[in-house]
Amino acid sequence: AQQASYESVWDGPPGSLPQAIAGCTRCPLHKTATQAVPGEGPIDARLMIVGEQPGDQEDLIGRPFVGPAGQLFDRIAADVGLDRGQVFITNAVKHFKFVPRGRKRIHQRPNQGEVAHCKWWLDAELRQVAPDLVVAMGATAAAALTGSGKAISARRGRIEIGQAGISVLITWHPSYLLRLTDDAAREAATLELAGDLHAALRYET
Ligand code: URA
Repeated sequence: AQQASYESVWDGPPGSLPQAIAGCTRCPLHKTATQAVPGEGPIDARLMIVGEQPGDQEDLIGRPFVGPAGQLFDRIAADVGLDRGQVFITNAVKHFKFVPRGRKRIHQRPNQGEVAHCKWWLDAELRQVAPDLVVAMGATAAAALTGSGKAISARRGRIEIGQAGISVLITWHPSYLLRLTDDAAREAATLELAGDLHAALRYET
């Protein structure tokens, strides 16, 4: 992988990054979340997948993409031959942001400041893994990785060159598929996400 350089650099010993993320107080989200959810996967993975932030299940369990969106991701990935164990999977923001509603905790999209504060950790993960390609699932990940907050509908399926020269393939977030109520639209978007993951798997630098 190319040697990328980042503005902010976490410089702890390899292996201690998840622990460092666990103690993060860089933004207020740590006060209400159960725990931070660091990325997971092989440190030498060629492919890195980035989502938005942990959801309710991820917050309780402490692992990324284990709830409904994660299960959908796993199914689509498996369909195209992508084994989750071979990729490093993480989020743009490491703490769950929500509002309580009755017994439920309703997911809230992180704001630009929260994404910017957490970029410190995403950069640290990027630097450690140094992937050949990063897949940005959804608008939050795309903005964190490319600096552009433009709608992803016109960007999906393309590779953009992000900060520090990293290649970023933009695709739908699996939660977006779960929210689509129209069957045909959901099927089409599912095929697009599958196609993008397949392309990511075959990506050669
Ligand atoms: N959605 C995300 O963006 N990330 C997760 O880890 C789970 C749901």
